[in-house]
Amino acid sequence: MEVDTNEQKQQLRYCDTTKIDAPRTLEDLINKLHKVFEDDEVNVEYVQKLMTSYESNRTDWKKFAKFDRHRYTRNLVDEGNGKFNLMLLCWNESQGSSIHSHANSHCFMKVLDGSVQEQRFEWPNQSSDEQTQMKYIETQKFKKNETAYICDELGLHRVENPSHSDKAVTLHLYSPAFDECQCFDEKTGHSTSSTVTFWSKFGERTPYGKCCAPVDMKCAENN
Ligand SMILES: [Fe+2]
Repeated sequence: MEVDTNEQKQQLRYCDTTKIDAPRTLEDLINKLHKVFEDDEVNVEYVQKLMTSYESNRTDWKKFAKFDRHRYTRNLVDEGNGKFNLMLLCWNESQGSSIHSHANSHCFMKVLDGSVQEQRFEWPNQSSDEQTQMKYIETQKFKKNETAYICDELGLHRVENPSHSDKAVTLHLYSPAFDECQCFDEKTGHSTSSTVTFWSKFGERTPYGKCCAPVDMKCAENN
């Protein structure tokens, strides 16, 4: 899956962001995403605006919104005809991810409820054994209905719910889907391979053991 950013825009069926028909429901958004990802290439800006134009309605997504007291959860919503994975991430107050990469995939993150904060970092020098503090780039905050985008070329990030009183829910699209990424230690830049898991799939709790074994739980990451 090639994701176009500039010169090939004209040849794509879905590239004109002024002609986006706002999805009325989450189901409508999913159907529209299936059409966009039928093509071999997609336009990042188009997907971002399409996701933004859906006005979040809790009734549409509440069956997928499952929280865990100890860590944020990843809940699979749709497998995108093999082109992408769409999932709900549920963040209790102050929960956050580690610093992680995206396995050469494209990551779109739309806020459905609350707000989230993203901190970006540069890739550490992985050819050196030297342990140095990772270079921080910037922090951005995303409010309800806004959509963020990241890929490995833009760096690494950590996402968190900065609120001490409100939960947050985000809708993530990864293309292509992946089940392993790298997690980084901010102080040393050291990375570990991490298998990503689902807390639930299609609204049903993933059976314990099935989703995790033989994953090292210390490294299992909900990115
Ligand atoms: Fe991420």
